[in-house]
Amino acid sequence: MNNDATTSGLTFDIQLSHHRKTPEERAQLLENPGFGQVFTDHMVTIRYTEGQGWHDAKLEPYGPLTLDPATSALHYAQEIFEGLKAYRHSDGSLVSFRPEANAARLNRSAERMAMPALPEDLFMRSIELLLEHDGAWVPDKDDFSLYLRPFMISTDVGLGVNHPSRTYLYLLIASPVGSYFSGGVKPVTVWLSKDYTRAAPGGTGAAKFAGNYAASFLAQSQAVEQGCDQVVWLDAREHRWVEEMGGMNLWFVFGSGENAKLRTPPLTGTLLPGITRDALLTLAPDLGLPVEEEPLSVEEWRRAAESGEMTEVFACGTAAVVTPVGHVKSDDGAFTIGDGEPGPVTMRVREELVGLQTGKRADKYGWLTSF
Ligand code: PLP
Ligand code: COI
Repeated sequence: MNNDATTSGLTFDIQLSHHRKTPEERAQLLENPGFGQVFTDHMVTIRYTEGQGWHDAKLEPYGPLTLDPATSALHYAQEIFEGLKAYRHSDGSLVSFRPEANAARLNRSAERMAMPALPEDLFMRSIELLLEHDGAWVPDKDDFSLYLRPFMISTDVGLGVNHPSRTYLYLLIASPVGSYFSGGVKPVTVWLSKDYTRAAPGGTGAAKFAGNYAASFLAQSQAVEQGCDQVVWLDAREHRWVEEMGGMNLWFVFGSGENAKLRTPPLTGTLLPGITRDALLTLAPDLGLPVEEEPLSVEEWRRAAESGEMTEVFACGTAAVVTPVGHVKSDDGAFTIGDGEPGPVTMRVREELVGLQTGKRADKYGWLTSF
């Protein structure tokens, strides 16, 4: 990365925190940070005003925002976000996985929500700057990383809905994290939601838009009431085609050993185009695992799992990496995938992906950016 203080014509104002955690306090917080509970000392903020563009770029102490109660994001939910991780490699360098893909997806989300694009160099510089000042927060233990959460909210004050906001705030905050699911790599049980829909054609499913998650909590609670860990979303029209799971994309393994092949649902416009999913489309064939992007119905899921043709299922995403799915429940009853334990294909894919991200495998696809 470049160290030039100006990016897209902007110079970042650096306001260092007077309340930085001491190395001892930080070490204690890094012991068992959970997921998204602990935050670093600083954050980046950049403002946007129609006609003026992006301005007032800052690194400042992490802390509360002051918002007028009539701020449009609070009423009409113009809010988009990203999620990516920074890893500490064994040589001490701080590395992120395909950050330019997150920058591009942020801007696709922005377009869908009538929000302004953030130039990629500002996105990258925001990460670089936060890591420059808060790099000590990147854990150096296996399965730990610094989760980076870039996001953008509308900030116009007023209740009219005849046009999108004319002002916006981009922020980057960072949180040291361990495993997304407590208990490490343990198969999850999923609930097929037939009462609720995540995304419909023409809707916002392909955007990393806050409202998609707001709309998911009730179905997720229903999944938990049914004794499941996660909700699986089906298509809006027929409630028949499998789309994705909570905050993760799904993969189905057919066959085993040399005959194993992978299937993932196609990006129909209602799924989030996961960056991990995209990486696995390249990575898996190189491991000798052919991939296809083809729809899977709930009937086929059950039938293939029960016949043994489908041997494994896993979910993938930044937060949850590669997580095995062991059991499936719905109004129509329950079934188990394989023996309900993490399968060899799932573990192989996981190991390769994590190996690449953490520098234990060569970066042969050029997916890593050092900051
Ligand atoms: N699907 C949804 C709904 C998500 O929130 C996420 C998480 O970002 C994913 C899939 C996986 O995307 P990625 O691999 O880019 O993290
Ligand atoms: C991610 O994997 O980055 C996600 O967004 C999942 C969840 C924390 C929303």
